[in-house]
Amino acid sequence: MSSHRTDPPATPQTRASSTVTQRVSVSFEYPVVFTRNALHPRNDALADALRRMPCPGKARALACVDRGLAEARPLLVGQLREYFHARGDALELAGPPLLVPGGEEAKNAWDSVREILWTAGNCHLDRHSAVLAVGGGSVLDMVGFAASILHRGVRLVRMPSTTLAQNDAGVGIKNGMNEHGQKNFVGTFAPPEAVINDVELLTSLTDRDWRGGLAEAFKVAIIKDAGFFASLAEHAQAMRRRDLDAVARAVRRCAELHLEHIRTSGDPFETGSARPLDFGHWSAHKLELLSGHRLGHGQAVSIGMALDTCYAESRGLVSPDERQAVLRGLIETGLPVFDPLLDVRDPLGRRAVLAGLEDFREHLGGQLTVTLPRSIGRRVEVHHVDAGDVDRAVDRLRRLAREA
Ligand SMILES: NC(=O)c1ccc[n+]([C@@H]2O[C@H](COP(=O)([O-])OP(=O)(O)OC[C@H]3O[C@@H](n4cnc5c(N)ncnc54)[C@H](O)[C@@H]3O)[C@@H](O)[C@H]2O)c1
Ligand SMILES: [Zn+2]
Repeated sequence: MSSHRTDPPATPQTRASSTVTQRVSVSFEYPVVFTRNALHPRNDALADALRRMPCPGKARALACVDRGLAEARPLLVGQLREYFHARGDALELAGPPLLVPGGEEAKNAWDSVREILWTAGNCHLDRHSAVLAVGGGSVLDMVGFAASILHRGVRLVRMPSTTLAQNDAGVGIKNGMNEHGQKNFVGTFAPPEAVINDVELLTSLTDRDWRGGLAEAFKVAIIKDAGFFASLAEHAQAMRRRDLDAVARAVRRCAELHLEHIRTSGDPFETGSARPLDFGHWSAHKLELLSGHRLGHGQAVSIGMALDTCYAESRGLVSPDERQAVLRGLIETGLPVFDPLLDVRDPLGRRAVLAGLEDFREHLGGQLTVTLPRSIGRRVEVHHVDAGDVDRAVDRLRRLAREA
């Protein structure tokens, strides 16, 4: 059956439109607190965070805790309960802390989102209450997403527990879930109520996660802050030895630079195609996938930055000494700068990693924008990456990594 619709002829009345312009200004402000032993009953940071917004009666919170973190720190959930108990006149746990899956799996786990929503409903969490998310970047992304859709958004207090979460994932305004086979395909922008960075939580991390977040610190330093880069390079071996003070300083400066970026980039909700903080990431995303996640994100980013720095050298953007300083800093931190996967070829004989450029272009919505270092501490955006020069940069990087 076919149907046929004929629109009535346009008259002056039907062509006329009138517009009311709606303009609303909203400003967001949230504290990012750097502390130690946040769950010690005498540490005020968490209580202050939960009581920032005046609410009738006690501040109620539903705590969602990363299961991997709770397993590595068997006392943590008890300490959390004790903290609320010791401040029972001002704070109240809305129910027993909810353990949620840790790691990337958290972001595939829609069941966990529903479980948080149901638990919140069962304990009558209202718009004056808060969700407290404790864990790595994956758990913060998943719990933050659940909090952002619960009652159309309830307050979220984050306690990040990995280096990456404390210096990047946990301090910003995004969350995300994996769907349709893509990372962060779903998610919302939702500024937190407060962030509590307790550096002591980092001591139970594996070496891989400890160092992974430091790759992101190098990333912002190389493209934004030469002084920070010099400090990272100077303390690289201490950070590798798990010196907590050295890492605390790196985490803090990196978090500050991320906050500054969100505040001053002019594009907090990322509608444009420039993503300076994606330096080193076009190949990193591909390498992570090609390795079946043998390479952690931070490890892949380290290799991606090393490759892009060699490429930038071939364009005269960084000097051989600057390129050498970047490679040495990463290596001394215990991060890889080369992987044989860079040599894998597709059936047409092209380096498989180059497909990462195409994915990147698509992700940005058509136009390719890749951020490269210009000297150290500054950056430049390019819209074309020459495959032949990438080929030669890989060859040079293989040799340099062997000699290092
Ligand atoms: N929202 C953002 O702006 C943003 C920014 C960057 C990255 N991310 C996301 O962050 C995720 C990666 O987060 P991540 O690197 O923090 O890793 P992760 O959250 O995947 O955690 C890694 C592992 O460490 C465990 N763990 C967490 N804290 C621990 C601790 N203190 N001691 C021992 N084990 C602990 C977890 O259970 C997990 O098994 C990615 O999904 C990425 O997309 C988000
Ligand atoms: Zn990254």
